[in-house]
Amino acid sequence: MAVIRYSEKVLEHFRNPKNIGLIENADGQSTVGSPACGDQVSMFLKVEEDRIADIKFLSYGCASNIATGSIITEMAKGKTLAEAKAITWKDAVDELGGLPPVKIHCSVLAIDGLRAAIQDYEEKTTGVKSERKVDEMAILDELKKVIYPKNGINIVDTNMIRYLSFEEGTIYIEVSLEETDVFKQNVLEEIYEHLEALPGVDKVEIKVVEY
Ligand code: FES
Repeated sequence: MAVIRYSEKVLEHFRNPKNIGLIENADGQSTVGSPACGDQVSMFLKVEEDRIADIKFLSYGCASNIATGSIITEMAKGKTLAEAKAITWKDAVDELGGLPPVKIHCSVLAIDGLRAAIQDYEEKTTGVKSERKVDEMAILDELKKVIYPKNGINIVDTNMIRYLSFEEGTIYIEVSLEETDVFKQNVLEEIYEHLEALPGVDKVEIKVVEY
């Protein structure tokens, strides 16, 4: 079995994570799970004058889950909500000095957690539930959260999505994957889990093509 190598900074944040814990009576909070591995992360926010005054997280996952939760909470603390929403998983990975390709999805999960906690705060304060209309752009954005473990790049930018349409509650996609690809099942399961969770989606039909 191949040994996964982590940067010094990942190991440092794993061994001594910052901002671990929960905030009682948080202004915004979330718990999100990764379809790729079943791990979870919870985020808690205190917001003052549109800025993240405090942020904590709880991890139910791997070393990268803990390290990305730690770095993202450090990056988000003190920022305005708009600035914090603009932090990407790539920013977090860069800040950590890189992550192995098979662990990139851990950073996607942590960013999802941060954005969901901000969304929770915004929904509570405005009383408006934000539900993005599902269209092909929204589907592509969701597919960009599926990371191809072989190269650590999402499956859209890896050019694996060859066809996409959304008709009457059903998403039809063609995914380019070799029959012998060891990550095939993992990628397909992740696509189903991401897309089936979108509002208004009843069914996802995936056709695997080898080109
Ligand atoms: Fe599950 Fe890292 S393997 S979050």
